[in-house]
Amino acid sequence: MKGIILAGGLGTRLFPLTKITNKHLLPVHDKPMIYYPLQTLVNAGIRDILIVTGGNNAGDFLRLLGNGKEFGLQHINYTYQEGEGGIAAALFLAEYFSDQKKICVVLGDNIIETNILNAVKDFEKQESGAKILLKEVPDLQRFGVPEIKGDKIIRIDEKPAMPRSKLAVIGIYMYDAGVFDIIRNLKPSARGELEITDVNNEYIRRGNLTYEILEGWWTDAGTFESLLRASNLVAQTGAINYNISHRAHRDHRE
Ligand code: DAU
Repeated sequence: MKGIILAGGLGTRLFPLTKITNKHLLPVHDKPMIYYPLQTLVNAGIRDILIVTGGNNAGDFLRLLGNGKEFGLQHINYTYQEGEGGIAAALFLAEYFSDQKKICVVLGDNIIETNILNAVKDFEKQESGAKILLKEVPDLQRFGVPEIKGDKIIRIDEKPAMPRSKLAVIGIYMYDAGVFDIIRNLKPSARGELEITDVNNEYIRRGNLTYEILEGWWTDAGTFESLLRASNLVAQTGAINYNISHRAHRDHRE
């Protein structure tokens, strides 16, 4: 499976922190934000990775990460999103890279405590369609929220005033190669963006979306409150997968 990190957009909710730099280069405790989604993919055994960047200081990703040696990678692919057309618009830029293979997409401001390896393995076995991950959170109105009947998701509402479950759709998505045709046919939402929730709803309509509940904590880091929470969570408990993996890298070098 190939991995894609979406680190475009303008990060306006973090202005003026993002006035002269890219949100995903900001610190989360002791590392730049982009380190966490990159490690999430590496820990899931994914080695062929594209970073979609955009906005300010796009060149700094290359200076920071280079070919990904620190993560045990030999190469990282980069591409650039102009403006802020939405998560699905950023993902669309990855069509050439995906090469008709299944993909695992991680939002650049999403940080998890544990490992998604099992979910990735499950999706490798899934014949077609998509898989999303869910997590119970208190501030549902900020996220995509599914309505679940029996063991099936029947719809996802983006930032609902009246959430239909206690679960948020986290920013880790797995898709088959059909995702790009779905995006091609999307219309911009009321906020003028191509929404990833519309992509997921299309997979639901086709009866081809599975889900799992994520273990351990999850947070985004795109608002002042969540950026602080992300730093505190990493500082207090560590992002387990992150620490283990870096120890492994060190041991490997010694
Ligand atoms: O964090 C999970 C949530 O992420 C989901 O529950 C929502 O369904 C989903 O829409 C998204 O919500 P946000 O409104 O929080 O997404 P945001 O605009 O903050 O973008 C999240 C990341 O996606 C951002 O860090 C970089 C990437 N992105 C976003 C946009 C709008 C891009 O690469 N390009 C873009 O144009």
